[in-house]
Amino acid sequence: MKVLGIETSCDETSAAIIDVTETKGITLLSNVISSSMQLHSQTGGIIPEIAAREQIKYILPVIQEAIRKAQITISDIDTIAITYGPGLIGSLLVGVETAKTLSVVWNKPLFPVNHLLGHIYANWINPTVISSEQSESRDPKTVNSVRNDIIFPAVGLVVSGGHTDLVLIENYNKLQWIAGTRDDAAGEAFDKIGRLLNLPYPAGPQIEQLAKKGNPKAFRLPRPLLHDESLDFSFSGLKTAVLRETQKIKTLDDQTVADLAFATQDAIIDVLVTKTLKAVEQYSAKSLLLGGGVAANTTLTEKFKYILNTKYQILNTKLFVPTKSLCTDNAAMIAAASIFTSQETSWKDVSADPELYFD
Ligand code: KG4
Ligand code: ZN
Repeated sequence: MKVLGIETSCDETSAAIIDVTETKGITLLSNVISSSMQLHSQTGGIIPEIAAREQIKYILPVIQEAIRKAQITISDIDTIAITYGPGLIGSLLVGVETAKTLSVVWNKPLFPVNHLLGHIYANWINPTVISSEQSESRDPKTVNSVRNDIIFPAVGLVVSGGHTDLVLIENYNKLQWIAGTRDDAAGEAFDKIGRLLNLPYPAGPQIEQLAKKGNPKAFRLPRPLLHDESLDFSFSGLKTAVLRETQKIKTLDDQTVADLAFATQDAIIDVLVTKTLKAVEQYSAKSLLLGGGVAANTTLTEKFKYILNTKYQILNTKLFVPTKSLCTDNAAMIAAASIFTSQETSWKDVSADPELYFD
């Protein structure tokens, strides 16, 4: 069966088609993403009104393009999955109202999806195999059994511009929130520090590149809550620490920016890896699933791999990271999550919920 996913919770407008079969699980047929990022890059953050206006322009062409790229027709679509929260209200409304309208006009069942769960279920997508034949399936148990390398219990880390959350995944459809950030999200810390360093928004990818040229010994930033009993995170103090460093410096030359980029990334990664592996150990997790824009950071994923293979080798925990385009916001992960976590809901009962959290 084929699912049309739609995602408009932040600045992206995305539509995707996945094919779900008994033998191959979830196969990506198309994943179209249009971003208004360029319009926000010089303002240091997203301007919600501009994001929503762009989404109104792009939503229908993006859906058309996803259907065209998947080489299917509207009649091949079995269900529609839509992000209904959390996110920016204006942006969510564009996607939710479009999905509701299409569900009525095309007479297709509608599945509302929590964006945060989408980041976790991106790990169930097989992005490389393109299938055509196969027996159709929407039975989550069958779909999960294809992805039989994800062993439970698993720990999930959602690490994005808006969220830094640890979840315990006891089974393919049983998730429980265990800890999160007390203030800024990890991606938000990258972006806010980027602004102090005069880098365009979103700063995460730039900081990752600049850090490669940074001197590891030039600056040492604090690791908030690193040795705290809880599994919670805190990143707002890092921004203040970088601000203090920049105030001490006369001119922010390229090398100093690279040095501060290294120190920022090093501190964020240290905290993310330490706390997450503490959770893995505490819950004897057999799999660790990453998701969200910051999981696109190769230095982070390499550090996870390295520590799991050395200090934590005894735990025998396997790491799963979606491909980069499935880490940052996309509609394919929403379509995938609808298979596991969502109920068919009448369009009359679906509404945008900007404050939605883990259930
Ligand atoms: O998941 P996402 O696309 O949107 C949200 O749901 O927030 O994540 C966007 C965040 C931004 O804060 C961006 O700076 C960060 O992910 N990001 C990165 C990298 N790529 C994106 N952070 C660090 N390193 C990266 N390579
Ligand atoms: Zn996201």
